[in-house]
Amino acid sequence: MAKSSKSLTRRPAWKALGAHYKQIRDTHLRQLFADDPHRGEHFTTEAVGIFLDYSKNRITDETVKLLLQLAEESGLRSRIDAMFKGDKINVTEKRAVLHVALRAPKGEFIVVDGEDVVPAVHNVLDKMTSFCNRVRSGEWKGHTDRRIRNVVNIGIGGSDLGPVMAYETLKHYSDRAMTFRFVSNVDGTDFAEAVVDLDPAETLFIVSSKTFTTLETMTNAHTARDWSLAGLGGEEMSVAKHFVAVSTNAAEVKKFGIDTANMFEFWDWVGGRYSMDSAIGLSTMLAIGLENFRAMLDGFHQMDEHFRTTPFEKNLPVLLGLLSIWYNDFFGAQTVAVLPYEQYLKRFPAYLQQLTMESNGKHVTLKGKDVTYNTGPIYWGEPGTNGQHSFYQLIHQGTRLIPCDFIAFEKALNPLGRHHDMLLANVFAQTEALAFGKTAEQVKAEGTPDWLVPHRVFKGDRPSNTILAEQLTPETLGKLVALYEHSVFTQGVIWQIDSFDQWGVELGKVLAQRIIGEIEGPADTVLNHDSSTNNLINRYRKLKE
Ligand code: F6P
Repeated sequence: MAKSSKSLTRRPAWKALGAHYKQIRDTHLRQLFADDPHRGEHFTTEAVGIFLDYSKNRITDETVKLLLQLAEESGLRSRIDAMFKGDKINVTEKRAVLHVALRAPKGEFIVVDGEDVVPAVHNVLDKMTSFCNRVRSGEWKGHTDRRIRNVVNIGIGGSDLGPVMAYETLKHYSDRAMTFRFVSNVDGTDFAEAVVDLDPAETLFIVSSKTFTTLETMTNAHTARDWSLAGLGGEEMSVAKHFVAVSTNAAEVKKFGIDTANMFEFWDWVGGRYSMDSAIGLSTMLAIGLENFRAMLDGFHQMDEHFRTTPFEKNLPVLLGLLSIWYNDFFGAQTVAVLPYEQYLKRFPAYLQQLTMESNGKHVTLKGKDVTYNTGPIYWGEPGTNGQHSFYQLIHQGTRLIPCDFIAFEKALNPLGRHHDMLLANVFAQTEALAFGKTAEQVKAEGTPDWLVPHRVFKGDRPSNTILAEQLTPETLGKLVALYEHSVFTQGVIWQIDSFDQWGVELGKVLAQRIIGEIEGPADTVLNHDSSTNNLINRYRKLKE
């Protein structure tokens, strides 16, 4: 039996970690720091311009050794190799998982089903480039000969969260003469508000959908088509100038009325939540231009190479993934807070939610057996310092253990007075306060009356990582996203799950299709749901009348 196929909980490292946890769970971070005056330098690593301080975690050298042993026993090395060489590691969909090919430089070989996919990736990049140049320069004209000033991306999930996050994150680098909007929700308000102040003659829609069948996206795309046609004299030929598509499904794109010459292709080996650097990034390239987009791809690639080639003890995504396992499976932590101290990263936690939770929210192993341990934690967060005045109270003094990732940049993109020093001071202060807290003695020494002391005590011992980079650039964004992508992969390998399918979204979709028919069909249609669902549908049907 290969090492990696042994059940997780029967692995020597897993068992040793369980015993080790019992030994160190009561050792406070204060003690760990007191024991080793160099701990703050010791548990750090830096690669490709990303510095990780993981010293404020509840770990010792022994913990790291055992976690690394777990990675080895789980066959992580061979699974990384399998992903990079195009093996069909998404077993339930029988697909290769090759987002790394999207940022592979020209000349690399990555073969799927006997075909090198890298030239195809670069052909699409070239097509995107020439399209973006034409739109950004004003050469691409709308139906009435006006230049395009507004771009609306219509998509959902990976076909929205990546584009909107990248746009918000890289706004500093974007063409401010153009307006970018993102429509995802089937709630009509999303579309209505996105176009309320736009002129159809200057508006280009990008319909982004891997499958081109997703209910929300197709509904919004048809509404956009009606809106555009209504504003352009109802002339069908205007669609060619105001709609382009990003998809793997040429037949459906054609059916919708978009010329496949204006379709930007990607492939079934790109998962939706791993697609922001494929043609799904068309709106990103339109906003920031080719050079910046290429720099972002280069950032992704640098992290890919780091992940592929660096020994695990210095490997950023591996360390981040293993720490997540440590808290999730041994401390019983249920969530991870991601706290970017950078306003431009305000959509980053939302992006990470799909990346992490759609990937690792699984309850069976690759072989279809129920897992007997916890898998994917809940990822959430908000930018600092806003979160500090909202939910940090619970992280500091609540009853739950919430490991935190703090993300910050040494140089500000908008240097204004002392703002950046204050921002960074808050990052360092929060991680210090979480780790060391404030004892009853310290609180008393400040003259606090006895009755108030318990309320003002901070127990500390709250773990965090600090991730620092020089400045938020397109290249840094690529590195950051790839860091989390590969951390998710690392966790999925250890849990022996398929991180690349998403069957859990199916049931709700199917039921919604059935209920749409019941809501819009004859009022006397007999309902065969449970009594609660029947009652809710009936109530809505009556209100509609
Ligand atoms: O939520 C399920 C899902 O399939 C995601 O994985 C995907 O990103 C999203 O729907 C959108 O799918 P598509 O790009 O095919 O419209």
